[in-house]
Amino acid sequence: MKAARCFGLLPLLSLAGCSGWQSVLDPRGSAAEELHGLFWLFTITCAAVWGAVLLVLAAALWRRRHPAEASEAGRRRSERRSRLAVGGAVAATVLIISGLTLASYLATRGIAEEHPEALTIRVRGYQWWWEVTYADPAPSRVFLTANELHLPAGRPVRLELAAADVIHSFWVPNLAGKQDMIPGRENVLTFTPREPGTYRAQCAEFCGIQHAHMALLIVVEPPEAFERWREAQIAEAAQPETPEQEAGRKVMESKACAACHTVRGTAAAGRLGPDLTHIGGRRTIAAGMLPTTRGSLAAWIADPQTIKPGNNMPMVPLTADELQAVSAYLAGLR
Ligand code: CUA
Repeated sequence: MKAARCFGLLPLLSLAGCSGWQSVLDPRGSAAEELHGLFWLFTITCAAVWGAVLLVLAAALWRRRHPAEASEAGRRRSERRSRLAVGGAVAATVLIISGLTLASYLATRGIAEEHPEALTIRVRGYQWWWEVTYADPAPSRVFLTANELHLPAGRPVRLELAAADVIHSFWVPNLAGKQDMIPGRENVLTFTPREPGTYRAQCAEFCGIQHAHMALLIVVEPPEAFERWREAQIAEAAQPETPEQEAGRKVMESKACAACHTVRGTAAAGRLGPDLTHIGGRRTIAAGMLPTTRGSLAAWIADPQTIKPGNNMPMVPLTADELQAVSAYLAGLR
């Protein structure tokens, strides 16, 4: 009895992996909902067809073992039945394939729909991180961030996807399907996130040895929370609050850091690496590899090649005091 109950739970166990912050089976956005519906329509239809084929095969094997009498009338009846069966199978095939084609067409049209009120964001793939630019009609309100995308729930978004070096692919399974990011070309992805939450996107095109370490967090927030976040991002970097942070800013501005990174409101204005203006407020550093803490910032700066071999950040020679100071400064940039 107990064993039977356990077996009864097995199908449920196989579904346990379907929810989560990186799952196509747990849709939280318009495009993902369309794809999810299509997935189940195809799965259930194909399973039904497979079951029907097995039933017919079993019936044929059974009749072969118990042949009907071979009279002339019986033979004619059997021929008529065969013709009916073949005709029925052809008609069912045409119907099913047409139905699935129509469903795919409708889903694709729903996914590609453009909305004039959409929030436009440019996402650019680099080896191995994501540059995010929030567009705005007023140039002073355009800002850059990295490796974290904030979206207001319920508002359509238009992502303009590009790549700086090699081909990457943008994929946030809970919200939308995959879209390639190709150097020299812009691909567009539109969807409406429905529910606040944090979702994980992963680069879905092999782009070099750290491809697996190219994650992007998508934070979907209520519209008011999103606006607060956006205003905070538009602002220049926070002023140092302690002498150590003040020393850290001087390190940032005077060492090689400033050649590659921007901290708006300071002399650091490099464009090769991620914008660090509000890095302390992001959840992770190095495209999802480490949580943003002062310790992990120091570890990363001290030896980025051990943490993420092959990435473009060199080891900048710093004294222990300089390392302490610059990590304190960056952690304070919220
Ligand atoms: Cu970028 Cu894989």
